[in-house]
Amino acid sequence: MLYHIRQDLITGLREATVEAGYDYDVDISDVEVEDITDEEKGEFSSPLSFSIAAEAGEPPVDVAETIAKAHRTNGLPDGIETVSVEGGHINYHTQKDAIANETLSKIVDGGTKYGAKTVSDPDTILADVSAPNIAKPLHVGHLRNTILSDAVMNVLETRGHDVIRDNHLGDWGVQFGNLMHEYTEFGDEAALESDPIDHLLDLYQQFEQRDSMLADLEEKEIVTDRFTEAVEEERDHHTENGKEWFARLEQKDEQAVDLWETFRDVSIDRFEETYDDLGVEFDVWIGESFYAREGWNDAVIEKALEDDVAMRDEDGAVYIPIYPDDYENVGNPDAADVDPSLDRARELLEESDGIEDADFEPFYIVKSDGSTLYGTRDLATIKYRLDEYDADQSVYVVANEQDRYFQQLFVAARKMGYGDVKLEHIDYGLISLPEGSMSTRKGQIITAREVLDRARDRAEAIVEEKGRSADDNVQDVANKIALATVKYEMVASKRARDITFDIDESVSLEGDTGPYVQYAATRGYSILDGAETVPAVDDVDPSNFNATDMELLYELAQFPLVLERCEERYDAAPLAHYLLGLAHVFNSFYHKNQVLESETARDERLVLTEATTQVFENGLELLGIDVLEQM
Ligand code: ARG
Repeated sequence: MLYHIRQDLITGLREATVEAGYDYDVDISDVEVEDITDEEKGEFSSPLSFSIAAEAGEPPVDVAETIAKAHRTNGLPDGIETVSVEGGHINYHTQKDAIANETLSKIVDGGTKYGAKTVSDPDTILADVSAPNIAKPLHVGHLRNTILSDAVMNVLETRGHDVIRDNHLGDWGVQFGNLMHEYTEFGDEAALESDPIDHLLDLYQQFEQRDSMLADLEEKEIVTDRFTEAVEEERDHHTENGKEWFARLEQKDEQAVDLWETFRDVSIDRFEETYDDLGVEFDVWIGESFYAREGWNDAVIEKALEDDVAMRDEDGAVYIPIYPDDYENVGNPDAADVDPSLDRARELLEESDGIEDADFEPFYIVKSDGSTLYGTRDLATIKYRLDEYDADQSVYVVANEQDRYFQQLFVAARKMGYGDVKLEHIDYGLISLPEGSMSTRKGQIITAREVLDRARDRAEAIVEEKGRSADDNVQDVANKIALATVKYEMVASKRARDITFDIDESVSLEGDTGPYVQYAATRGYSILDGAETVPAVDDVDPSNFNATDMELLYELAQFPLVLERCEERYDAAPLAHYLLGLAHVFNSFYHKNQVLESETARDERLVLTEATTQVFENGLELLGIDVLEQM
């Protein structure tokens, strides 16, 4: 209801503004939804007169009065009772009865569809999500990615779009050649069977350590040059072998392909266990290797050279030059053209002492040894998604460490002529755990599994403390609380923020936590349980609602707006924040008001409670959190 009123207000305000003689295009941000506890302001408020005042040469109050008058004369939209001006703001006051009935029937009739939207021309959105590298464990960063992605994509779907979730596995690159070498030389078949990821991670780290060992030695000048040389030689031997293995893989050598497939399969098996626990699924798992193995990389490289978008450096590597002014409007399909010409790069090169010095950045697509890079595969991926899916949007949920990279990628994609798709990097901040809260065996990696296990242990303790008998499904309830804990925390902060995740604090039923929201919904169910039946919305007499009831009602009416905000921002934080607020409002509703015992508003409040549980259900479902009928 409020949602529609707001749309109508925007339209009405636009007309009134034009009629009042101001040259100003009203948009969505010009109609703000206010806190209803502020009587003065009304439920909607528009600050647009402040934007108009300067140009019009009139004080904001006068502008506001003129527009408000025009709007009044044109007729206010359904659901709006009055318009007033206060301190330059144009304030709209809603008709409470109409709002109450409409909102409740929207929710109760809408059921699981309340908040959903159907659009006539939905976007096909190709979402690049989770995307771990194989042969390593999922870590806490992947948890954030996977959970955030799931929630954001759920929202986009509920807002009417077609989303294809692609788990873009990192399964290609020389590091897997290194791993093959390390495995054939030092690996252990039994360990690969029993503990594949651990074993592969050991081997991987062993390979990497040779470099840091060498750096160490060079720093400590006590060792002889000959010793350092010997170590260097040893390291180079392994590096060479790794490269060779990767070359064999690229040439589809049988033994190499077999090994690589084994690494890939065991990794996917392990990843799937965690994804299952989280209850997330993907539509496809294409992975970087696909683009290498199926010729998509080659096609991109060929085209880049043919179209004169890319050039070679003196070592034979191929790159697309990116100029500083290319970054403007990156990712925007309607953006001004990026300049694909190489003339400019050639000129800049002439003026400088080499690429490092020139006023452009090279986006490499072929290395001097002929192999492809991460960026090559990403360009190929964009092309593939355009060709195979006719994607309107290609969006990437990837940590903000890669901000710069994605900007470059998007520019490079435009130069390649992949213009007809919106490119969006849905970046998110770093996640860490409080110092010392988790002992990790493997250096710095805190695995997703460790986090989930720990949350489950804590949740179990809480459920047991609450005195559930052993024959109850303690495990199941604990599991759902644990997931609510982790999932809520992963999306509760705006995605750009770095977060510290304190499991012990977040698992609590009190405080700003997922379980707190979950618990509020459970209270709703137990109230409904106490009633024989819940009356129909038609039996509700809104005049029986008091201010506390109305506050809850307005909160419920905001839900579609919140989803709209999430959609705009590609974030789930507004939803998490909203649900927490709803839990607070609902808690104060039943502390202040009687429901089952009420003599004046029992029917009304039962319907209101039912509507509240519905909104909790819908909202939590989008976050991937289960509601609990009992706790
Ligand atoms: N596997 C990569 C990593 O772990 C992330 C891939 C993100 N997606 C992409 N299309 N580049 O850093």
